[in-house]
Amino acid sequence: MNTMRIKEIGIKLGVPVSTIRFWQNEFTEFIRPERTDGGQRRYSDEDLTRFAQIKELVYIKKMSLDKARQSLQPGDASREMIDWSKTSILLTGGTGSFGKHFCKVMLAKYNPKVIRIYSRDELKQHDMAIEFAHDSRLRFFIGDVRDGERLRRAMNGVDFVVHAAALKQVPACEYNPFEAVKTNVHGAKNVIDAAIDTGVKKVIALSTDKAVNPVNLYGATKLCSDKLFTQGNAYVGEGKTRFACVRYGNVIGSRGSVIPVFLKQKESGRITITDPRMTRFWITLDQAVELVLNGFKYMEGGEIFIPKIPSMRITDLAKAIAPECAIDEIGIRPGEKLHEALTGEDEGRTAVSYKGMYVVLPNFSWWNRQNYAEAVPVPANFVYTSDGNEEWMTVEQLRELVYGPASSVEKSELLVVNG
Ligand SMILES: NC(=O)c1ccc[n+]([C@@H]2O[C@H](COP(=O)([O-])OP(=O)(O)OC[C@H]3O[C@@H](n4cnc5c(N)ncnc54)[C@H](OP(=O)(O)O)[C@@H]3O)[C@@H](O)[C@H]2O)c1
Repeated sequence: MNTMRIKEIGIKLGVPVSTIRFWQNEFTEFIRPERTDGGQRRYSDEDLTRFAQIKELVYIKKMSLDKARQSLQPGDASREMIDWSKTSILLTGGTGSFGKHFCKVMLAKYNPKVIRIYSRDELKQHDMAIEFAHDSRLRFFIGDVRDGERLRRAMNGVDFVVHAAALKQVPACEYNPFEAVKTNVHGAKNVIDAAIDTGVKKVIALSTDKAVNPVNLYGATKLCSDKLFTQGNAYVGEGKTRFACVRYGNVIGSRGSVIPVFLKQKESGRITITDPRMTRFWITLDQAVELVLNGFKYMEGGEIFIPKIPSMRITDLAKAIAPECAIDEIGIRPGEKLHEALTGEDEGRTAVSYKGMYVVLPNFSWWNRQNYAEAVPVPANFVYTSDGNEEWMTVEQLRELVYGPASSVEKSELLVVNG
């Protein structure tokens, strides 16, 4: 029933009546008030929602009226393309394995205006500058995510932030718990504050499967970081900054991961498996970068983007790498899980399947969503785990991934990621 007067709409949205009247005239196809016998307009809840969307598009996203009208059309509002050549990016943890691959892909394919690398160690930055042939689109900033003031300076004039810096070794975080909290939790807060203060448009933080039902401090700090980023949207006020996360599991071939370990053990004729029931997801660095780019494309704020990727059985990987070797079963290690989970039970309630990803939508929505019109809700009690996955790598596919043809860049790089 249409009961609201124009004044009430103005009060609810914190916008002058004259502006509401102007929007009413400009967006007649979207707002349909009823008239009283005396000819006065009365608005419905649906009209209120439309006005809130218009406010978001015109006031906050600073869209022209035409563009706002286009966005309000039913369907998917994610058509907005990112013009990377006009986009400045700050990348915390830019000298890490994700960071370097992100730069490689961006510089080769998207030609960003500039990528500012933000990390602590000057030697890694020096080596990276050489590796990238002193590409002028890369700038190197020494800084610690624990240092909010430095972050604010580094984000000056930046459009997008990718937050990849973290302490991520499980044993190191267990042994140095306060350090893990300072980098992964306080660092996350500093990134959020600096992004809001400097008017950054979009921020994507990298999360991990270990943040789901965490059993170690690394996972717990990343869960905390996820909560800070998704909830960070509530601190933005009238600003334009939006925060979201991407979440994935072990990267194939990364430092300390199982492939380099098996390859080394193979030489001795015996390989060790913690538990033959163990399963894991597979993701390549290319897919991780693509996930971040999709996050930037579709995010409205508060989401966790999760890629749909295949699983493998650890025993199949052993067969693929060293079929001739004897296997020693050594038992599951502290802080290790039998299977990986990329969503928790609670997150399943708000998750949707969208554009080849699962997207955990926030419990709290601070604005009316334009995207996700084509999203498909997942079944009740949905959890995305490596043992419950529908897509599996066969032994042959695994063998090809590890020993694949040298001509394939992605495959040949597999074993040298992060040394
Ligand atoms: N690798 C995986 O398998 C995996 C899986 C899921 C999620 N992730 C997540 O992905 C992100 C990137 O991982 P990665 O594999 O690229 O890690 P990585 O290779 O260990 O790189 C970490 C980066 O962070 C920087 N860093 C560490 N502490 C910092 C601090 N206090 N201030 C500023 N920079 C700091 C490091 O440089 P300096 O030491 O010079 O500061 C380095 O550039 C992390 O958030 C991680 O949790 C990784």
